[in-house]
Amino acid sequence: MATITRDINLAAEYLNKNEVVAIPTETVYGLAGNAFNVIAIEKIFNAKQRPSYDPLIVHTDHIDKIESFVQSIPEEAKILAKHFWPGPLTLIFTKKSLIPDLVTSGLSTVGVRIPDHPVTRELLSKLTFPLAAPSANPFGYISPTSAKHVDDQLGNVIPLILDGGICKVGLESTIIGFEGKSVIIYRPGIITLNKIKAVLPEVEIIIKQTAESIAPGMLENHYAPLKPLYLGDISYLAENHKGKKIAILNFKEYKSFADKENQIVLSPSGDLNEAAFNLYSSLRILDKMRVDLILAETVPEEELGKVINERLYKASFKS
Ligand code: TXA
Ligand code: MG
Repeated sequence: MATITRDINLAAEYLNKNEVVAIPTETVYGLAGNAFNVIAIEKIFNAKQRPSYDPLIVHTDHIDKIESFVQSIPEEAKILAKHFWPGPLTLIFTKKSLIPDLVTSGLSTVGVRIPDHPVTRELLSKLTFPLAAPSANPFGYISPTSAKHVDDQLGNVIPLILDGGICKVGLESTIIGFEGKSVIIYRPGIITLNKIKAVLPEVEIIIKQTAESIAPGMLENHYAPLKPLYLGDISYLAENHKGKKIAILNFKEYKSFADKENQIVLSPSGDLNEAAFNLYSSLRILDKMRVDLILAETVPEEELGKVINERLYKASFKS
């Protein structure tokens, strides 16, 4: 069984021994290991049952440290880093050989992030290496936003969980790469397209969120609960699944035709940040209910709403 601790020094001790430790970030919990050490990286892939073709993000606490393991930092990246780091943004750079190929699934590039969480930043400041960390969930399942979520699913296979409370953002980071003078968004997140445009007004921004993307985070079966989740108009879906026991994920209001106890509202005031914050923990609660399936509705398709809808779509059942 995993030990759940708030002791940052203990977490550092484990990581120095090339053990894996679940760590808090502002987006979701990560399953961390020494990014320079193949043994630690193998443990991450094994614990998550993650296929080796899905590369990991490398976390550090200071931009100056990045130069030791990436070839160069494009001007556009420097501007993004200045505005959004520490924060929920991953930038893709050409790697140096210090980063093992296992981390990047053989790609010549590596995703890097400076997370905005005081506990993990202090941990990183105590280490002589960066931390490779995917989200701390079994491959394909919903990302964890609390230490308890990590323990529920990986508690049997990892030794230590560093508890830093509930993740304040609740959605995985925006992933951005650089090709020539263009900026590519591989995974949408709370650093939205408009926020990126605002700091890079002259730059071409390309969105690659389809199967052509090289970010396997784009695989369609991602972020999914175990129960089938249907996305659309709830009354229509309920009618279609008559006779089945249903749980409902609402945006602003409960549905009067169904049991309130089997429903969750993401944000009564219609606040998209609050909806993002509550999304994954709500999906986990609904997944545990004694129901046959989950019905969910999309949120307004604006800014962060688009990002939430993208995650809901990926969580939804595809026949
Ligand atoms: O917010 C986050 O990004 C969290 C926290 C823990 O930092 N991490 C996270 O990691 O969501 P993960 O492994 O669940 O998702 C990372 C995604 C993967 O889908 C991977 O394919 C993509 O990042 N990725 C990593 N390196 C890449 C690269 N060099 N090029 C393209 N995509 C990359
Ligand atoms: Mg993940």
